[in-house]
Amino acid sequence: MLSDNIRREPGGSLYFADHSISALAKRYGTPLYLMDENRIRENCRMYLRSFAENFGDNALPLYASKAASFKQIYRIMAQEGMGVDAVSPGEIHTAVAAGFPPERIFYHGDGKTEADIRFALDRGVGTFVVDNETELLRLEHEAARRGIRQKILLRVTPGIDPHSYEAVNTGTVDVKFGRPIETGQALAFCRLALNCGSLELRGLHCHVGSQVFDEDVFERTIDIMVGFMALLKRDLGYETKELNVGGGYGVRYLESDRDIDIPARIRIVAERLRLRCAEAGLPLPFFLMEPGRSIVADAGMTVYTVVSVKKIPGYKQYVTVDGGMGDNPRYCLYHAAYTVLHAGRTGEETMFDLVGRCCESGDILQPGIPLPGDTAPGELVAVCTTGAYNYAMASNYNRFGRPPVIMLTPEGSYCAVRRETISDVSALDF
Ligand code: LLP
Repeated sequence: MLSDNIRREPGGSLYFADHSISALAKRYGTPLYLMDENRIRENCRMYLRSFAENFGDNALPLYASKAASFKQIYRIMAQEGMGVDAVSPGEIHTAVAAGFPPERIFYHGDGKTEADIRFALDRGVGTFVVDNETELLRLEHEAARRGIRQKILLRVTPGIDPHSYEAVNTGTVDVKFGRPIETGQALAFCRLALNCGSLELRGLHCHVGSQVFDEDVFERTIDIMVGFMALLKRDLGYETKELNVGGGYGVRYLESDRDIDIPARIRIVAERLRLRCAEAGLPLPFFLMEPGRSIVADAGMTVYTVVSVKKIPGYKQYVTVDGGMGDNPRYCLYHAAYTVLHAGRTGEETMFDLVGRCCESGDILQPGIPLPGDTAPGELVAVCTTGAYNYAMASNYNRFGRPPVIMLTPEGSYCAVRRETISDVSALDF
């Protein structure tokens, strides 16, 4: 199986986190997002342990909550001792409303408005990751007005291609985020920040991409970032106290995908950071990373009921389910690959396109997947590894309500986000 929290009974029934899919579908209905709570906790602990082993208490992993944002996930992060990366007032509000300590929130984004800045300051957000000069001066103005000194990191772009897909590439010189090191703009950005009396420049942030597999991406990032830290020391007399290298470790969506040994990678990154800092005569900065996908992706599964099957002789075959691009737009957006399993049985397989019920031909969850040739309406199918960027990116296209998020534990299951009803969907209309 793709992940060790998925198993099939000899009779063919599928289990996720030791729960029967058909029992869950009966209890909660479909479509259904499932989250394996222990797996989320294990993934957090893997980061926390590696950070402690390599940096002692001079480091903190932050959960990039854009991957899956709802109150219960922030409670889990608070219990596990993680920090959190948030990118909007909505994510900040959800975290704080769930009791997540605001001082452990890092607030990102390239388009923070004045209202957003005030909102985050009102909530006591710990660190702003400032993207650009306009934001910097707005924040300086607002912090001065309040008579506070706000901690900030500056987002810079190291000029690295993570060899992932275009939409999630954020490291090259020409992306919309941050200020590039190569053009000298990052240095000017830091100089400006150091002149802001109501802002405390704690250090630097970069994020090169997502679903990254290349071994050396983070090592090259460290080389460039420490080089830039040395430049800051030389030209501005500034010593970087915190270094945040973003998120990005890839996860397995298909059996054929590689498995990344994240603790081994972190060890290499830590060694590289120590080496480069020693060479440059710089003290080791407090180290931060922001994993999102690798915390929640393999903790998720989406369950659908087959609504209809269409076979066009000599052409192709479709399985239509009761969800689609509204609950998982990732194939439509990125041609993202997924493993799809029949949840009730095995059988001689033929190829189907798994499609949704939205009114457009592009509503494809996954093309060309093997399912039992006699797959029939009323049966259940599961899409694996949907814990990251599925619920988070879901929409109400065609006015379908979004599925609920059901948490699975060894003791049982509970609802973390309820199903959206059709009256929820029209609730804002006058
Ligand atoms: N930090 C920053 C500043 C980010 O922009 C991101 C992701 C992360 C951390 C977390 O990266 P991760 O560990 O999850 O790879 N919607 C896309 C992914 C967009 C990622 C955006 N930024 C998808 O569904 O693949």
